[in-house]
Amino acid sequence: MKGIILAGGSGTRLRPLTGALSKQILPVYDKPMIYYPLSVLMLAGIQDILVISSRDHSDSFRALLGDGSRLGLNISYAEQDQPRGIAEAFLIGADFISDDQVALVLGDNIFHGPRFSVLLDDAVRRLDGAALFGYRVRDPQRYGIGEIDADGRLLSLEEKPRHPRSNLAVTGLYLYDSDVVGIAKNLSPSARGELEITDVNLAYLAQGRARLTELGRGFAWLDMGTHDSLLQAAQYVQLVEQRQGEWIACIEEVALNRGFITPEQCLRLGEEMRGTDYGAYVTDVASRRLPKLVLRAA
Ligand code: DAU
Repeated sequence: MKGIILAGGSGTRLRPLTGALSKQILPVYDKPMIYYPLSVLMLAGIQDILVISSRDHSDSFRALLGDGSRLGLNISYAEQDQPRGIAEAFLIGADFISDDQVALVLGDNIFHGPRFSVLLDDAVRRLDGAALFGYRVRDPQRYGIGEIDADGRLLSLEEKPRHPRSNLAVTGLYLYDSDVVGIAKNLSPSARGELEITDVNLAYLAQGRARLTELGRGFAWLDMGTHDSLLQAAQYVQLVEQRQGEWIACIEEVALNRGFITPEQCLRLGEEMRGTDYGAYVTDVASRRLPKLVLRAA
């Protein structure tokens, strides 16, 4: 399966923070925002990743992530010159996807919860059509809103409904089979002039091939579109990391756990960030995997 991170848009609601910087490169507590969606793709076992950003910011992402080889990844880059809709990712990424399955994640989404990698593995293994992830929200008018049957099959879907039929929001992580490119090519722009991801999902729904897995109450799903939501996300990450001593979206740790890099490689990455709590954490997770040196008295 291939992975796409959509990290474009103009970040207007985060001005002046986004005057010179891409929104998805802004700090969320101790790491750049894009680490969070990147870690989600990696948790799903994906190593071939396309980062789509606006032309102005493409170089920053390249400087940050390079070709991904240090993490055992293969990262490539593409540009979206105007925010013409989330589903444009499948047109920009058509050659990259080729005839493979693909996971799309929005560059401003954080997912954190128990057994997430098991849930992702399961969704990837069972994928037939579209696999979406839902989350109960208090303000359903702001999201794509779905209804499901007892088996998790999607029954209805509406983008930002004025009168929502449920409060189950469709989150910014979407898994599709290779039909998605053809579906995206046949879309017409919506009233707001965008190729809507909801229209892609409606096409799968019409075929009876869209499933939605609800992320339960113990789960956190955050998107960061405003100053307040950005700060709240940072505070959430700080709280969990300081309380549990387990880092959220530590891409080096995920690469190690997924077997993309060896403990020795992970140790070197940690040592490069020596002097920071983040670097100490990476060094620590790597050390736990290395054989202990037994010191004998002479
Ligand atoms: O966050 C989940 C929601 O994302 C879903 O529930 C909705 O169904 C889906 O339409 C989308 O709604 P948003 O209103 O959050 O979409 P927004 O236009 O804000 O785009 C989300 C992110 O994708 C944003 O960080 C910028 C990026 N983006 C967006 C567009 C339209 C791009 O990179 N390029 C684009 O063309």
